[in-house]
Amino acid sequence: MTTIDLGTPRLSSIAAADPSRPDTPALVDTFGRVATDLRISLTDRCNLRCTYCMPAEGLDWMPSSDLLSDDELLRLIHVAVSRLGIRELRFTGGEPLLRRGLEDLIGACALMEPRPEISLTTNGIGLDRRAAALARAGLDRLNVSLDTLKPDRFKTITRRDRLPDVLAGLAAAKTAGLAPVKVNSVLMRGVNADEAVDMLSFAVKNGYELRFIEQMPLDAQHGWERAEMVTAQEILASLRTAFTLEPDSRNRGAAPAELWIVDGGPRRVGVIGAVTRPFCDQCDRTRLTADGQVRSCLFATTETDLRALLRGGADDGEIADAWRNAMWAKAAGHGINAPDFLQPSRPMSAIGG
Ligand code: 5AD
Ligand code: SF4
Repeated sequence: MTTIDLGTPRLSSIAAADPSRPDTPALVDTFGRVATDLRISLTDRCNLRCTYCMPAEGLDWMPSSDLLSDDELLRLIHVAVSRLGIRELRFTGGEPLLRRGLEDLIGACALMEPRPEISLTTNGIGLDRRAAALARAGLDRLNVSLDTLKPDRFKTITRRDRLPDVLAGLAAAKTAGLAPVKVNSVLMRGVNADEAVDMLSFAVKNGYELRFIEQMPLDAQHGWERAEMVTAQEILASLRTAFTLEPDSRNRGAAPAELWIVDGGPRRVGVIGAVTRPFCDQCDRTRLTADGQVRSCLFATTETDLRALLRGGADDGEIADAWRNAMWAKAAGHGINAPDFLQPSRPMSAIGG
């Protein structure tokens, strides 16, 4: 097992509220953004080992005593929905389907008032057997990660021979009515960069909404190289060899993807230029890790320990206030392009995408 440093500084006490923070219940920050979308990592474990995410041998998983229990998790989500203006919940991981009782968690969230939108980001393994039950529980939509349609490449990228499982999962999600079914793809130079057109043909044919995501420096191994990243501009150029793309006039809002209408519509494709076309100024997210830490950004270098508050007997009002303080301190942007950029010590699989 590789040991990774999760030694991110933690603010475990209730930090005194900055007196300049406005007296509003919402999760506002000093740049005028308001977080309404909560991303919840349910586990740091995964049954794949994508090369841009984890080393082959996996990571030292969080001990179970560190993980929030279902009751603790639901309490925090309820605080977010009922007191902090959170309107959207997205469950991530690691691989969220590995969390036991996911359907029950979703069912409990679907009963909250006001009823949040509920979505999932999954690698699709096992989804074929669970899509219908997830939809029944209240899941509204999902994103499935898929970087290639070639079985041998799938095995190279994820270090597991599971492409048919993912394809079956996608089909089951569509059958279950989880619309739109989105597919997330990360392209890498010399690995799958030549598949942009094939991926889009596949998505158009099957009625999935494809999104390409620029590779970000979030791998546990800290091996990200800018030169290996396939940029949004390159992705668009390669798609345009086979399709016409018109910008979707609908307002992008806080959505990170720039959307393009494919061959006159109705299909669309998204390109998320996380590194080269940052959208931080529009960000509406707040994140909760499986061990109960609030992060104001994927790339944050500080966290706020809501688990300690919970387990220390804090009431809902104190938890809500600690969460507001955490978000008030949100940085302007991820800083990847700055010379002094420091990759967060927590890897993507322990933050949630
Ligand atoms: N850069 C970009 N996307 C990533 N993902 C995982 N690691 C990275 C990275 N370093 C993607 C996964 C999944 C989503 C959660 O984020 O492929 O679709
Ligand atoms: Fe698992 Fe997602 Fe990381 Fe791949 S990218 S190893 S599917 S958590």
